Amino acid sequence: MEKIIVNKSLGLKGNIKVDGSKNSILPILAATLLCEEECIIHDIPKLKDVEVMCELLEVIGAQVTKLSEDSLKITTKEIKTSEAPYELISKMRASFLVMGPLLARCGNAKVYMPGGCAIGTRPIDLHLKGFKALGAEVISENGYVHSKAEKLHGSDIYLDFPSVGATENVIMAATLSQGETILENAAEEPEIVDLANFINSMGGNIIGAGTKTIRIKGVKKFHKTEHTVIPDRIEAGTYMVAAAITNGDLVIENVVSSHVQPVIAKLRESGATIEEYEDKIRVKSNGFIKPVDIKTLPYPGFPTDMQAQFMALMSLAEGTSIINETIFENRFMHANELSRMGANVKTEGNTAVLKGKSQLSGAKVKATDLRGGAALILAGLAADGETEITEVYHIKRGYANIIEKLQNVGANIKFVEE
Ligand code: EPZ
Repeated sequence: MEKIIVNKSLGLKGNIKVDGSKNSILPILAATLLCEEECIIHDIPKLKDVEVMCELLEVIGAQVTKLSEDSLKITTKEIKTSEAPYELISKMRASFLVMGPLLARCGNAKVYMPGGCAIGTRPIDLHLKGFKALGAEVISENGYVHSKAEKLHGSDIYLDFPSVGATENVIMAATLSQGETILENAAEEPEIVDLANFINSMGGNIIGAGTKTIRIKGVKKFHKTEHTVIPDRIEAGTYMVAAAITNGDLVIENVVSSHVQPVIAKLRESGATIEEYEDKIRVKSNGFIKPVDIKTLPYPGFPTDMQAQFMALMSLAEGTSIINETIFENRFMHANELSRMGANVKTEGNTAVLKGKSQLSGAKVKATDLRGGAALILAGLAADGETEITEVYHIKRGYANIIEKLQNVGANIKFVEE
């Protein structure tokens, strides 16, 4: 079994380069199904989730060619099957993002219902509401969602919640429809903007991405393109917290500062010194962590994907912090694991109260999900003694080379295989 062993590593110092965004590349890979010509994509992170999505694209009919360490060429001359099989969907819920492009490209899509996961039930009702509004017939049976439409037509669609996935799926479904679609209360995340830029680069007509109202004018077909994925703002935020929690001094490279403003604001409130440059951010800590309250919100609010990492940091704050998780209904599993390490955290519904300053000590803990796992690494870097983390496959889904990146700045951390 693979484990991560972390020992106390205060004073991390040096540079860490962030990879391309996981939550940007996954919808962009799905969107390549819209195009019959070649799509060349750069800055692709080396992640398990990317491998799973590429496997799914090949099953559907895409030709995926590795051009270099972090570049791929994807060409989908024709769709071989519009059915996404259970074994791939069950590996990664983001596979459901192929439904919109399949519906747009061939008027038919049969995708296994993505299950919930550790952090919540993760329904897809808003995705299906959008497809129906565009004229698709949607049937759910035997665990599959089957949608079909002779021709999709533009529509006015209101999303009851600014769901990232629903915004992405509906945009992709609407790109080849007849007429214009207006999507209201859309998600405003940078990954939506990156997806829209990618689709527009191959001939799409999307305006307003990054705002609550997105207009998509259907086009006839798409042409070849080349695109570089935006940096991963959550990976960047995670290493920014690594500097703050270890009394360190790290320069995080390949960051779009405007994408991480909530994290910068909260780290400054907690006492860290942040210097923003063109495409990098320096985070320094003097070892004294002030308590700050966090409320997760849709972008541009504080990202839910940074909540677990901040819980680790706040366990060392000199006072009480309150964390309010408003996006997912069950995203505090890491609290139990942090408690094993000595964090004084109590959760009640979607609120967690942390009473610092705890004296963290190394323990045997398990990664409960991707970001919860990252939080345990951060806590392990500050804890006395040795922390042993299992279920590390969660972490490998979203953090390429995290062990090497941290070792390069002085962390005492390693993978072991037993
Ligand atoms: C994306 O998930 C990200 N994943 C998540 O990152 C991220 O936490 C989330 O957006 C929120 O920012 C990818 O981009 C691959 P949502 P997604 O639809 O699209 C409810 C990580 O750690 N909802 O915005 O699934 C849903 O239950 C991962 O990198 C509906 O009710 O998130 C949740 O409570 C974790 N009906 C809320 O909206 C729907 O049809 C936000 O979900 C869809 C969603």
